[in-house]
Amino acid sequence: MKGIILSGGTATRLFPLTATTSKQLLPVYDRQMIFYPLNTLIKAGIREILIIVAPEHSGQYLNLLGSIFKNHGIHIYFEVQKNPRGLADAFIMGESFIDHDNVTMILGDNIFEDDMSDMIKNFSSGGMVFAKKVPDPERFGVVEFDESGKAVSIEEKPVKPKSSYAVTGLYTYDNRVVEMAKNLKPSKRGEIEITDINNKYLEMGELTVNMINGSWLDAGTFDALLEAGNIVREKGISKNFHPLINEAIDDFNLRLKNLAKATLEAHNLILRK
Ligand code: TTP
Repeated sequence: MKGIILSGGTATRLFPLTATTSKQLLPVYDRQMIFYPLNTLIKAGIREILIIVAPEHSGQYLNLLGSIFKNHGIHIYFEVQKNPRGLADAFIMGESFIDHDNVTMILGDNIFEDDMSDMIKNFSSGGMVFAKKVPDPERFGVVEFDESGKAVSIEEKPVKPKSSYAVTGLYTYDNRVVEMAKNLKPSKRGEIEITDINNKYLEMGELTVNMINGSWLDAGTFDALLEAGNIVREKGISKNFHPLINEAIDDFNLRLKNLAKATLEAHNLILRK
């Protein structure tokens, strides 16, 4: 299983915070936002991860994640997405990275309290998404169920949602997703929609919709960002990161401290001269 984090976009709803940095590098309590989706993938046993970023932020991502996992058995790759063409673009941009494998894609601003590791580890074929009951389903892809509770369709941002269950930003697919994404036509809003991919798997009878109960946050607005920080602190989400992540961050902090010390010493040396 390969992993992709879609971490580009324009983040207009967070202006002016995102005039100087990427949304997914903003802090959520004590870690940059990107560490939360990274944790979801790493906990699921994924060790090859592609991060898709916007051109103006690629340097910042390299500074933070370019070498942090070097000695920790996790391989991070980057691709630059020039235009935010839609969520399904992840599989087109990631084609050579995905190669012949299955893939789990997660949005860079999605924070999950639940641990979906076992479901991802046990995935064999088809597609798998995670749905959550929300008060504002019209903002998301919404799952319609029949009387027996079986998912029958998914509608993207419907005016009249057929249920309160939103598809969250974590998606697992078999290798066929790459060809499916390449054959998509842009929707009315001009994006290539992951909802179209989900509906294709659904039509083939190969989409699993799992329910999640814990907190799910997409930290894309000021209120959501603040709430995310509070929930992360309250529920200790960052404290429970996979040990590989916390070890890598500790090493990184040490390197930063040593660098700061060396810079200060060099500065003092110059002053003394
Ligand atoms: P959105 O929140 O829909 O878009 P955005 O982050 O640009 O924010 P805004 O609506 O405030 O302008 O995107 C969801 C996630 O997917 C987010 O992490 C950005 C990412 N994304 C991409 O990386 N590339 C894309 O083509 C799109 C559509 C989204």
